Formats: sequence, structure tokens, C-alpha cells
Amino acid sequence: MFAERIPPTPTFELLAEGLTKKGFATADHVLSLQDVLVILEEMRAQEHAFKKSGIGQANDYTVLHTRRGDYIKWLSMETAPEVTKMYLQFVHQLRLFLNRYCFLGLQDLEAHFTKYPVGTRYVRHVDAFSKDDNRRISIVLYINPSWTNGDGGELLLYPKSEGTPEKISPLAGRLVIFESTIEHEVLPSKIERHSITGWLLHEKRFF
Ligand code: OGA
Ligand code: MN
Repeated sequence: MFAERIPPTPTFELLAEGLTKKGFATADHVLSLQDVLVILEEMRAQEHAFKKSGIGQANDYTVLHTRRGDYIKWLSMETAPEVTKMYLQFVHQLRLFLNRYCFLGLQDLEAHFTKYPVGTRYVRHVDAFSKDDNRRISIVLYINPSWTNGDGGELLLYPKSEGTPEKISPLAGRLVIFESTIEHEVLPSKIERHSITGWLLHEKRFF
């Protein structure tokens, strides 16, 4: 069981506290290196199903390679491979914890595998859509076992008002959560960069 692999409560409390005080938080070693490596294999096994990501929603959706270079594969609880699924269950537990701790009323999760090929980036943006604020909390787990300083691909989180951005390295097993209205960008990555990217949603929707 995942609950035995991850001691959630202290991690959840730190994440909730950071989110409340600063609008973002990180936690390291949320997964063991072994689990990270298994997720990387699970992602690679679905390589053929990855699609070029786009920007916007529904009728506004466009693919712009220069602004956003990643490839994605949407996940569902029913079909996700084993360790990926356990991670998604962990995120749902975090969602329930945040609802209790911060009264956020988050009803659902959407998530995808993400791959940035060498040399790609995602320019400064927000995750909440301009006409739809259903995405409330962005949540990213990094799956880069060989990442070292100089490889690029860091996440920059811009402060809500003034100040210098926070730079977060995409280290294996690191989780970052932030309010989806916060501006952020992914710096160009010199290595292939993997993550599971998700959003905690205000409303559950059935399409
Ligand atoms: C995104 C995003 C951040 C990251 O997918 O919208 O900004 O660090 N990801 O991967
Ligand atoms: Mn984003």
C-alpha cells in the first residue's frame, strides 16, 4: 500500500501551511527513488500515446511550439498504471486534507504525464483559464532521476506582487503545489524532462 510508503500527515501539513502563507509549497522525497523509476518506466511504456500539448480551452485551443514545448498523456484513475495510480490516490488524499485544513472545497483532480523534449520550455503563464476558474491548485511531481544543476528546466514561480521569482529544480520525487492563478514558467530544459502535472478542481465535471 502506498500509505506505508509515504508518511502523509507531516508532509500534508507542511504543504497546506506553505500554500496558505505563500501560495505555494514544495516537498521532497514524496516518492522513493525506486517508485520514481517505476513511474518513469510506466510513462515510457505509453510514449506512443503522448500528444503535443496546446494552450487554452475548447474553441480557443491552439498548439504553439515556441511557447509550450511539452507532450502530454492524460491520466485516469481507472487506466493509470500501478505506481502512477498510487500517486494519484496520494494526491486525492492531499486534496481531502487541503479541504479540511484550508476549506478549499476541491472536488476533483485532473492530471497528465508530461514530457519536455531536450531544448523545450513553457513560457510565463497561469494555469487557471481566463474564462474558467475551475483549476484552483496546480500540483507537479518531478520524475527526473539524473537531473543536476546546469540541466535547466527549473520552474520559476513569480511572486503575487513584487520581488524575485522562486526557482524550483525538477528533482526526482519533489512535489510542488501552487495556486493556479500564480504566474510561472518552465525554463528551457537541456535534458528530457518528465513530470506528472495535475490540478485540483473546484467542481467535478462530466463531459
Ligand atoms: C504546466 C506547468 C510546471 C512544471 O504544465 O502548466 O507550468 O514545473 N508545469 O512542470
Ligand atoms: Mn503551468
